[in-house]
Amino acid sequence: MTPELKNDRFLKALRRQPVDQTPVWMMRQAGRYLPEYRATRKVAGDFLSLCKNADLACEVTVQPLERFALDAAILFSDILTIPDAMGCGLYFEAGEGPRFERPVRTRADIDSLPLPSMADALDYVMNAVKTIRRELSGRVPLIGFSGSPWTLATYMTEGSGSKEYRYAKGLMYSDPGALHALLDKLSTAVADYLNAQIAAGAQVVQIFDTWGGVLTEPAYREFSLAYMEKIVRALVRESEGRKVPVILFTKGGGAWLERMAATGCDALGLDWTVDLGQCRARVGNQVALQGNLDPSVLFGSDDLLISEVERLLRSFGPHPGHIFNLGHGINQHVDPQRPSTMIDAVQRISREIHSGSH
Ligand code: CP3
Repeated sequence: MTPELKNDRFLKALRRQPVDQTPVWMMRQAGRYLPEYRATRKVAGDFLSLCKNADLACEVTVQPLERFALDAAILFSDILTIPDAMGCGLYFEAGEGPRFERPVRTRADIDSLPLPSMADALDYVMNAVKTIRRELSGRVPLIGFSGSPWTLATYMTEGSGSKEYRYAKGLMYSDPGALHALLDKLSTAVADYLNAQIAAGAQVVQIFDTWGGVLTEPAYREFSLAYMEKIVRALVRESEGRKVPVILFTKGGGAWLERMAATGCDALGLDWTVDLGQCRARVGNQVALQGNLDPSVLFGSDDLLISEVERLLRSFGPHPGHIFNLGHGINQHVDPQRPSTMIDAVQRISREIHSGSH
């Protein structure tokens, strides 16, 4: 049984098939820049309670689709649900970002981390996926996601966000075997988690390697990429009679695209520091590319925003296999009307490019 999908531009672009216009979605499209998100979060009480309530998580997932002509929905949740399920005690300090009650810093900490079944421990995520699929009823595909093992390890070892990665990099250079043990456990958890999301109805999955770009080239290969490759190999790649594409996003990973493409993933997410056309020349038709507007352009004028959209679309050119997105999450202070200008421009200009009339 293949449930009908009313808008399959995003899946087509992921398969590098021609589309009438370039599909578009935004990282963090459901979030604090939307007044309706802030209202629903208030009803939930706080961010984590919002993630744990399937109906409210569904509501905020759909909010940006009501406002904007987006071609994909992304599950409303967080990458830090896995360490929480492993007993680290996730909480959010207002205005300070995520924190863990019990950071993981020693070999003994790592060895004693439990590895529960993610379908059970994170059943609230699977319930949200099912609820969202029902609510979308084929309007657009639903993206599931996870953090990369390296990115999860940075938060688990620091106990919070970080600028210098004292504990994660400290472990990497003083006791690499211990870090490998942690990454190995996390890659098992991430593959299990994404497969459970796919079983629950996620139609595409994205791995967020937000902090892979802070590593040296050899360290990136050994401590981040190798584990993402292991996950890609362990994922269920077909569900409901369709291929389930996998997107890898390493922020700051522009130097390593060829290696990322060789993992067997279907698409690469790009931050704004790289040129789309040059990236395409490097990976060819091997993978689709997703990106890469600097999210801060949404603070500029309409003219600037439109000309940046045009620059990116022309740089990629008329080939299939581009998904328009921001190079990172949308900022909470962006005017909630601004994305409309961006999306209108993506549609208008990409239609022109794809119809060959430029
Ligand atoms: O994209 C979406 O709309 C789906 C939801 C989503 C959230 N987090 C919701 C969220 C996704 C895909 C994430 C992923 C995530 N979470 C990443 C990887 C992507 C990236 O941005 O690099 C990371 C590193 C995290 C960890 C995390 N969660 C941080 C650092 C923070 C604080 C960020 C901040 O802006 O304060 C969160 C909280 C969080 N996750 C919020 C949202 C909407 C804000 C919480 C709130 O409402 O107060």
